[in-house]
Amino acid sequence: MCWPLLLAAQYLWDAATSSIEELLIVQEGGPVTSVFWAPEGQYIAVGLNNSTVQLWDSSSLRQLRTLRGHSAHVGSLAWNGPTLATGSRDCTILNHDVRIRRHMKGKMSGHEQEICGLIWSPSGQQFASGGNDNLLHIWDSAAASSSSSSYLHRLDEHQAAVKALAWCPFQRNLLESSGGTGNRCIKFWNTHTGACVNSIDRGSQVCALQWSKHEKEILSSHGFSQNQLCLWKYPSMVKMAEFTGHTSRVLHLARSPDGYTVATAVGDEILRFWQVFGAPETKKSSLKRATNI
Ligand SMILES: *[C@@H]1O[C@H](CO)[C@@H](O)[C@H](O)[C@H]1NC(C)=O
Ligand SMILES: *[C@@H]1O[C@H](CO)[C@@H](O)[C@H](O)[C@H]1NC(C)=O
Repeated sequence: MCWPLLLAAQYLWDAATSSIEELLIVQEGGPVTSVFWAPEGQYIAVGLNNSTVQLWDSSSLRQLRTLRGHSAHVGSLAWNGPTLATGSRDCTILNHDVRIRRHMKGKMSGHEQEICGLIWSPSGQQFASGGNDNLLHIWDSAAASSSSSSYLHRLDEHQAAVKALAWCPFQRNLLESSGGTGNRCIKFWNTHTGACVNSIDRGSQVCALQWSKHEKEILSSHGFSQNQLCLWKYPSMVKMAEFTGHTSRVLHLARSPDGYTVATAVGDEILRFWQVFGAPETKKSSLKRATNI
C-alpha cells in the first residue's frame, strides 16, 4: 500500500519566527494526497485526491495555477528545476513545465499500479519511480519529455510497494530505496548499471529516507514498533543516533532548503521539526564563542 498524505489543510511553518500560516483549505477535490516543496523554497506543489495538482507561492500564499492531466489521485511529486513530475493512482507519471501554458511535456507509463514514490537525480539526468506493484523504474530524463514506456531499468527485488526513495548527493548513480509494510530492507542501487550494490535489513518498516546535504549520512524513518528516526553513517551503515517521540509511523520526511532541519509528518497529523544533520556553521561558531567566554 502507498500511504497517502491525508490532510484537510496545509500549514506553512516558519522556522525563523515559529509562526504558522494556513496555506489552503481544500473543500472540494481533497484531501491533499502529496506535497513537495521546490528546492529554491518558494513554490509548493500540492497533489489532490481529485487528480489535480495545485501550485502555490509560499511567500504570498497565493495559488498560481492548477495542473490537470491525471485521472486519479496524485500521490507523489518531484521537482527538477521548473519541471514537476507527478505520479498518480492512474499508474502514469506526467512531467509538467510549470512556466508554460501547455504544461504537459511527457507521459511515462510502465507501472501496473499506483505510483508511490518519485525522485529526480541531483543532476537532473535521471529519475526514479516506485510503485505499488513493488517495482522500481529508473528513467533517463529524455523519457520525461516524450510519451514513453522505455525505462532504463526495471528493478523487481522489493517485496512490497516502493515509496521511500533518496538519491545520493555526493555519488553519481547511487540511489537508495525502501518502503511498504513488511519491507524492512534498504537497498542501494547503481542507477547506471541497474545493479543492487547493497541491501540491509533494518528490522522494522522503513517509511521514508533522506540523505544529509552536508555529511555522508542517511536518515531513515520507521514504523512499528518504535516509530523512530535513525541516522546512519554511509557507507558503513553504523547507527549514529536514534530519535524517538512519534506515537505512530513516520510517513513523511522533508529536509529544509539549508539542509539542517528535517520535518516529519505522521498519521496523527503532527508535524515535528528535528535538527538531526547538525547545526549551520554560523550557529556553531556563535555557540563556540559563547562557551569560550
Ligand atoms: C479538484 O479540486 C480543485 C479544488 O477544489 C478544483 O479546483 C478542481 O477543479 C477539481 N478538479 C476536478 C477534476 O474535479
Ligand atoms: C478520493 O477520490 C476517490 C475517487 O474519486 C473517491 O472514491 C474517494 O471517496 C475520495 N476520498 C476522499 C477521502 O474524499
